[in-house]
Amino acid sequence: MTTLVFGPSPVEVAHGEPREEPDGTLVCAAVRDVTHDVRSFVLRPAQLTAYGFLPGQHLTLTVDVGGQVLSRCYTIASSPCRPDELTITVKRVPGGPVSNWLHDHLRPGDAVVVDGPLGSFSTAHHPAERYLFLSAGSGITPLMSMLRTIHAAGEPVDVVFVHHARTPADIIFRDELRVIEADHPGVRVVVVCEGDAEHEQWTGPRGRVALPMLLGVAPDLVDREVFTCGPAPYMEAVRGLLTQAGADPDRYHEESFDLAPPAAPAAPARSSSGATYMVELRRTGRTVECDEHTTLLAAAAQSGLSLPSSCQEGMCGTCKTTLLSGRVAMEHAGGIRPREIAQDKILLCCSTPCDDLVLDA
Ligand SMILES: Cc1cc2nc3c(=O)[nH]c(=O)nc-3n(C[C@H](O)[C@H](O)[C@H](O)COP(=O)(O)OP(=O)(O)OC[C@H]3O[C@@H](n4cnc5c(N)ncnc54)[C@H](O)[C@@H]3O)c2cc1C
Ligand code: FES
Repeated sequence: MTTLVFGPSPVEVAHGEPREEPDGTLVCAAVRDVTHDVRSFVLRPAQLTAYGFLPGQHLTLTVDVGGQVLSRCYTIASSPCRPDELTITVKRVPGGPVSNWLHDHLRPGDAVVVDGPLGSFSTAHHPAERYLFLSAGSGITPLMSMLRTIHAAGEPVDVVFVHHARTPADIIFRDELRVIEADHPGVRVVVVCEGDAEHEQWTGPRGRVALPMLLGVAPDLVDREVFTCGPAPYMEAVRGLLTQAGADPDRYHEESFDLAPPAAPAAPARSSSGATYMVELRRTGRTVECDEHTTLLAAAAQSGLSLPSSCQEGMCGTCKTTLLSGRVAMEHAGGIRPREIAQDKILLCCSTPCDDLVLDA
C-alpha cells in the first residue's frame, strides 16, 4: 500500500482542472482460445502508438453488460517488449458478468474502454538474479508477463516457475511455458496438477502446494525474490510455507485476483470520536459529512449516493476523481499513477479527509 497526504497546488486550483488523461480506448485485434475456458484478447491502441507498461501491471476494462456498466481488472499478460500490442487472458468465472461477456461478445474490431496500466506487482520494482514464481489457475497471467519479458529481453536471471492447475486441460500457456524453458537456460518450469483431465492422465507432479515440493525444485528459495498470484486460499498456503522455510517477507510479493466483498459501510460519520469534515461533491450538487476514519466512497454511500467503484481496494481506478480543494490521506494499491496524483486525482475508496474538501464528483 502507498500512503500519501497531499492536496492540489494553489496555482493549479486557481487555473482550473488539470489536463485529463488521454483517450483510454483499445481495439481488439485478435481473440485466441487458450484452454476450454480461457481466452486471450489482443488489444491495440486506436492510434499506432507504443503503450508503456511494466510486466505484471493490469488494465481496468469497463464494459456495458445488459445496460449495467461494470469495471474489472485484467493483467496485461503480454510483455512490454511488444508495446504496440497488449494481450489480456481471461478465464470464464461461472456466473461472472464481465468474464463471460468478454468471451461471448468481444470480437476483433470492437473497441473497449480501459484505464491503466495500473498496479505495482512487477519484477521491475524488485530486480533480482534469482526468482521464484508461484501461481495457481488464472493467477499465472502477471507471472507470464514477467517471464515473457525475461525471455524476450534475454535477461541473464534464474527463474523457477511453479504453476498449479486443476487438471492438464486447465494448464494456461502450457506449450509456451515449455518453449521458454527450452530456450532460456535460466528458466525451470514445474507444473503441478490436482488431478487428471477427462482425456488426459497427468504424469507430472500432483497435489497442492507443499514445502517439500518447493524445496525440491528451489532448495535456495529463501534467497530468491518470490512473486505469487492465485486464489486467496492458495496464497495463504504459500505465505505459511515460506514463513515456515524462513523466507524474508520483504522479498515476498503477491497479488490477489479475489477481491474481498465490498465492506459494509462504516459507522455513520457523526458517531466517530475523530474530526468530521464537509465534503462537497460539486457535480452531484451534494455535500456530505465524512470523519477522518471513513473513506470518501463510504461516506457518499452512507448519504445514499452511489458513485462509480469496483474493487474498493485502491487497485482498479474506477473511483478516480479530481480533488479540487482540501487534503486527503490516500492508501492505494497501485490503482492510480504518480502523474495522476500530480494532477490532483484521488481514489475515493481509499482516501480519508484531512480537511473540508471539494471533489469533482
Ligand atoms: C489486479 C487484478 C488482475 C486480474 N487479472 C486477471 C486476469 O489476468 N485474468 C482473469 O481471468 N481474471 C483476472 N482478474 C479477475 C477479474 O478482474 C474478474 O474478477 C474476473 O474476470 C471475474 O469477473 P466477473 O465479472 O466475470 O465475475 P465477478 O462478479 O467479479 O466474480 C464472480 C465471483 O467469482 C470470483 N472470482 C473472480 N475471479 C475469479 C477467478 N479468476 N477464478 C475464480 N473465481 C473468481 C469472485 O470472487 C466472485 O465471487 C484480475 C483481478 C485483479 C484484481
Ligand atoms: S474502487 Fe477500485 S480503486 Fe477505488
